[in-house]
Amino acid sequence: MERTVTSKPLTGDVFYPPPEIESQANVPEYETLYRRSLEDPQVFWAERAAELEWFQPWEEVLDDTEAPFFRWFVGGKTNIAYNCLERHVKTWRRNKLALIWEGEPGDTRSFSYHALDREVAKFANVLKSMGVKKGDIVSIYLPRIPEQVIAMLACARIGAAHSVVYGGFSVEALAERIEDAQSRVLVTADGGWLRGKIVELKQIADEAMARQPTIESCIVVRRTGQEIYMEAGRDYWWDDLMGLPIASPVCPSEPMDAEDLLFILYTSGTTGRPKGVVHTHGGYMVYTYTTLKYVFDLKEEDRYWCAADPGWITGHSYIVYAPLLNGATSFMYEGAPNYPYPNRWWRMIEKYGISILYTAPTAIRGLMRFGDAWPNRHDLSSLRLLGTVGEPINPEAWKWYYSVIGKERCPIMDTWWQTETGGFMITPLPITPLKPGSATRPFFGVEVDVVDDQGKPVPAGDEGYLVIKRPWPAMLRTIYRDPERYKNQYWSKFGHMYQTGDSARKDEDGYIWVIGRMDDVIKVSGYRLGTAEIESALVSHPAVAEAAAIGLPHELKGNAIHAYAVLRAGVEPSDRLAEELRNHVGHEIGPIAKPENITFVDGLPKTRSGKIMRRLLKARALGQPEGDISTLEE
Ligand code: PRX
Repeated sequence: MERTVTSKPLTGDVFYPPPEIESQANVPEYETLYRRSLEDPQVFWAERAAELEWFQPWEEVLDDTEAPFFRWFVGGKTNIAYNCLERHVKTWRRNKLALIWEGEPGDTRSFSYHALDREVAKFANVLKSMGVKKGDIVSIYLPRIPEQVIAMLACARIGAAHSVVYGGFSVEALAERIEDAQSRVLVTADGGWLRGKIVELKQIADEAMARQPTIESCIVVRRTGQEIYMEAGRDYWWDDLMGLPIASPVCPSEPMDAEDLLFILYTSGTTGRPKGVVHTHGGYMVYTYTTLKYVFDLKEEDRYWCAADPGWITGHSYIVYAPLLNGATSFMYEGAPNYPYPNRWWRMIEKYGISILYTAPTAIRGLMRFGDAWPNRHDLSSLRLLGTVGEPINPEAWKWYYSVIGKERCPIMDTWWQTETGGFMITPLPITPLKPGSATRPFFGVEVDVVDDQGKPVPAGDEGYLVIKRPWPAMLRTIYRDPERYKNQYWSKFGHMYQTGDSARKDEDGYIWVIGRMDDVIKVSGYRLGTAEIESALVSHPAVAEAAAIGLPHELKGNAIHAYAVLRAGVEPSDRLAEELRNHVGHEIGPIAKPENITFVDGLPKTRSGKIMRRLLKARALGQPEGDISTLEE
């Protein structure tokens, strides 16, 4: 059956939503509501905000007098953790499951809203007893275990901010994040399970704490049970602390100003060190709550699984905060998708009756490679909706996901967004006709465009800069301790338009096709890394004088890192040295940052002002035309 969203039929390869999904969708129609949301966004967002609890109502929905430093729900007082837990505990949801968890070895735990609320209150009191106050920043470096969720919510509850460092990061990445946040408390674990092996989180944390001695107390979750070093007077076991009388289950949420700091999350940018993206209680709460409810069409009986890591923005917004704000039942899994066998995910979907699966193209490609027999062995009929995020999804992976996993019954929500945006920006709804590889249309209240160098919209089909033309509630507020960098990075090129750093095309139906990063950010398996971080890790090795990193297309990872190194005088290149350098990058930043290969060169192509021309290295590596090389130094 041919259907249309506008007056004319859609072009290209189009997949229409199944009638049973369409007829039950939380949002029955897009065009009119989208138009209305742009005509009066403040009314739209005020209505959404009113679905949550506020200790004191806001006076103004949006204050743009100090743009680009926007403020939302000005004067309002709330607490996101209160809305995630205490709000539900007062209702029948008290006994609903909030979180179901499975560890990689197969152990399981689950928490009702009541149980999760108690754990969070207890840990909040533990933090308080360690002197953590409103405004402090607690660093969290954990595997994918329930304590990750508990620790984050406990911070929010007492008005402290969290800075979560992904458990796959290593010594230098952790140390520089601790230092930038000036954290006095670190929460970590004795290890985590991945592919049957232990990730030595505490050992890495010890090294990082030695480099950045701001940490006074380190709380250690017992996950693997292995022997680890514990420093007297600094390191404490989580379960010991939770057994003390100070860990009382009574700890009401601190009333927070809508604009008070909720968390910082470090992400890679164009230059230099990772930047601390700042999100606040009010706007972030309203936006993540609404986007999840509308896009993944949450129903009370759903079992929702976001397979990301809480250490990245996807996990912050759509494992921790948005599902709990919606009173949903979430599933969380600790380990690798193919451990011990490539059917691990499919087995868990069947076992727990998962109805919504949200993951990344790299995971889909990785599982697709093992063939259809693994998923086909399992009953996946509980699935209702699928999702993807992190990088453009290639149509081949999209179609496999759609037909083999979703059995052509489950629409795929291809959500485009960023650490900085806090929540989905360009995304289908379950009622949206889909085109494989396109994130489709903007969410309500979001206005996007594709523009040229001058900021003028480009014609349909042409590539240009993806920009966002008005503020939205979950937008980053600033870069932690660096407001200038915030202005330069996001608002300098086009003035009043937010610069995403991505290139995109808009087709004749208004569908957006994101192409990829235009800056020095590389997406490896959907993870965001900066060339600068990899390069500085390389030059921190005594053999390396200078280095450059680029991303080249890779079948499974989307992009893979290739590095070039100029060695110091007297150092001989060898395969062994290349391997040593790769491991060094892994030790400093984390395994995901290890270059695929390292090429030893005598010099790097640079502009006359001394900037490395990564674009040229990339063109040469791909055998493409070198383009404009007029600025190349002789
Ligand atoms: O390039 C875009 C890509 O991921 C970048 C943001 O990375 P990060 O801040 O780590 O957040 C990832 C999870 C929200 C974007 O600038 N990206 C994200 N989602 C998509 C995407 N590219 C294409 N399609 C997507 N659905």
